[in-house]
Amino acid sequence: MIRKCLFPAAGYGTRFLPATKSMPKEMLPIVNKPLIQYGVEEAMAAGMHGIAIVTGRGKRSIEDHFDISYELEHQISGTSKEAFLEDTRRVIDTCTFSYTRQVEMKGLGHAILTGETLIGPEPFGVVLADDLCDGEGGDPVLAQMARIYAKYRCSIVAIEEVPAEEVHKYGVIEASPLEEDIFMVSDMVEKPEAEDAPSNMAIIGRYILTPDIFDVLRRTPAGKNGELQITDALKTQAKEGMVLAYKFKGQRYDCGSVDGFVAATNRFYERYKQGA
Ligand code: G1P
Repeated sequence: MIRKCLFPAAGYGTRFLPATKSMPKEMLPIVNKPLIQYGVEEAMAAGMHGIAIVTGRGKRSIEDHFDISYELEHQISGTSKEAFLEDTRRVIDTCTFSYTRQVEMKGLGHAILTGETLIGPEPFGVVLADDLCDGEGGDPVLAQMARIYAKYRCSIVAIEEVPAEEVHKYGVIEASPLEEDIFMVSDMVEKPEAEDAPSNMAIIGRYILTPDIFDVLRRTPAGKNGELQITDALKTQAKEGMVLAYKFKGQRYDCGSVDGFVAATNRFYERYKQGA
């Protein structure tokens, strides 16, 4: 029912310099697969086959990755190495990719608004590729969220509880329970200090958004750090209508940080060794 998924991928990845000096952070590998491919495979598993990527300068290797490399294919054709490209081929065969560039970095809300031209008037998923999500029992987090969307038809944010000293890194919600693991959002704040945070329930990089979010974003003023924040637009949606928060089942790795990146690498390496 949700056909498209937006990937804001224009950011500089400064936390991973120098690795990200000339390489997009979305192309950093966890074992042998770039971060963004995990996200695209998650979207694909949730039935979202229209992949819309908001890129920026220096991000062309993302486009090349989700394309055929004739020279390479020719070179490895008929060898055992073909198996290494199986997952990527499946993605390319199943999904369609569209791109637009965010010319100036004015925040996540601005990146999402830049993607409107690729999404149009329909609900869509959003994946922040540096949050790598490993859905419990192989049930991808976006697929879990799509099922909730089918029932409630409103914007949904994925959340997890974080220690108080970490709330300043996230959008944080105030909410009341609706059903198991699902909350009705009444307020949200972008990156509050611990003492101002309404809870310890932090938004992670998975969203389902209804298309009216674009109009809301257009009338949202710059917020935290002078940037257009998706958190502020979602707060308006929550006040004027309904926004849900979903405590997803699974494990999320913040691969934008060295600690999360190494934890994800260890976990996926174990799985790689088991041949899964
Ligand atoms: C963004 C959002 C924030 C959210 C976070 C999840 O922040 O602005 O609300 O909690 O992603 O990863 P960023 O990490 O891009 O600074």
